[in-house]
Amino acid sequence: MSRADLVVVANRLPVDRVIAPDGEESWRRSPGGLVTALEPVMRKPDRAWVGWGGQPDLDIEPFDFEGARLVPVPLSAPEIESYYEGFANGTIWPLYHDVIAAPVYRRSWWESYVQVNRRFAQAAADAVEQGGVVWVQDYQLQLVPKLLRELRPDVTIGYFHHIPFPAYGLYSQLPWRRQVLEGLLGADVIGFQRQADAGNFQRSVRRVLHHTTRSNEIVVTSPQDGKEDSRVAIAKAYPISIDAQSYIELAQDPKVRARAVEIREQLGNPKTILLGVDRLDYTKGIRHRLKAFGELLQDGRLTVGDATLVQVASPSRQRVDAYAELRDEIELTVGRINGDYDTMHHTAIRYLHQGFPREEMVALYLAADVMLVTALRDGMNLVAKEYVAARTDNTGVLLLSEFAGAADELTSALLVNPHDIGGLKDLIMRAVEMSPGEQSRRMRALRRRVLEHDVEDWSHDILNDIDKIRTARNARR
Ligand code: F6P
Repeated sequence: MSRADLVVVANRLPVDRVIAPDGEESWRRSPGGLVTALEPVMRKPDRAWVGWGGQPDLDIEPFDFEGARLVPVPLSAPEIESYYEGFANGTIWPLYHDVIAAPVYRRSWWESYVQVNRRFAQAAADAVEQGGVVWVQDYQLQLVPKLLRELRPDVTIGYFHHIPFPAYGLYSQLPWRRQVLEGLLGADVIGFQRQADAGNFQRSVRRVLHHTTRSNEIVVTSPQDGKEDSRVAIAKAYPISIDAQSYIELAQDPKVRARAVEIREQLGNPKTILLGVDRLDYTKGIRHRLKAFGELLQDGRLTVGDATLVQVASPSRQRVDAYAELRDEIELTVGRINGDYDTMHHTAIRYLHQGFPREEMVALYLAADVMLVTALRDGMNLVAKEYVAARTDNTGVLLLSEFAGAADELTSALLVNPHDIGGLKDLIMRAVEMSPGEQSRRMRALRRRVLEHDVEDWSHDILNDIDKIRTARNARR
């Protein structure tokens, strides 16, 4: 197998396996944000992507897709349960999102996480050429940088953490806190969404491993042949973004614009359409949003017919208990609110437990007067950026949680603490009643930021820092 100069390692491959009615199997590019984010990187020659094929026991050879080499890593059904649903999404995900749900610490899950991370590291080591670069993605693979460095000391390693990194007071709960930090510190560059995440990580590194940090640098020391060996790792913020231009193009497409008008009509042409778009996840604050909206109807500050909330909640991690319970709660709440307030002509909440193609999402963004992003904790939240990019005529209001990484950049949004239901209600009313002049002033500033810093800048910034280290290293050899 030919080896690649740059290897991306992520939990999932950038493709989904589809089986046609006649039984023929093929691969289709998956719709996720990470795939779009890395598209410009993967378009260049000499690239490979290591990841899981999305189904149990899929043990197939590497294959080429749209010019890149894809290297599938097999996972058995028990491993999906213990590594992916268990340690990644039952331990790390809730712990790193400020324990909104209680993390479960189970030793068998940890053992499986170590074993699967080892497999990903081996696959990356086999795929990368001498002196090449491996770029590891996200919390499912935090041990890969160290394991890979042990296998391939010639390789320069980057890691990007797409979700928050918690404050030490929470992180310190993790029974394997030392091993996870050591795993991450195998990388030469460790990227975070916000400076606060990089700061939390550095503090944990100081407290647990006693390494010295200065500004964005960590001095990583390890015993080598009886003496101390040291190198410098970079830990800093590289906020991820979107391919803004592709959203602008879709927003200007006459078919998409016509669909936006049709959506408004199908909802009975209410004065105000409010929109929420999330994976169905307890970190997204969907319950808080529904509570605030329901109370506004109850108080008579909003009325059905004048205002409709469209809530897209795409199915996610449905076999994890906390997600199944959340779905039940949300659906009970939506049913109650609609039961109390719907009329024959209008609905209070149009709830869609479905995923939609990008064209339909942009049509929804165009149809919506107010976008509600009320996450209780979120690494970045790309929906906020997508809404802003799509509003080419500078209308519309973004209401954005202070606890989403995007709030660091999108400071002209209406920023909200979603835990404060009274405050959230008042801000929803402010958004609904905002004058066209204020909407335009705010939207222009938001759009400037999203257009100035798009996803290509993000990957360029981090890969540039990785490359500087690689050049310096290869020069020393
Ligand atoms: O942003 C966090 C993340 O886990 C990504 O790594 C992933 O692409 C997305 O959420 C969807 O999650 P999952 O792969 O668990 O369906």
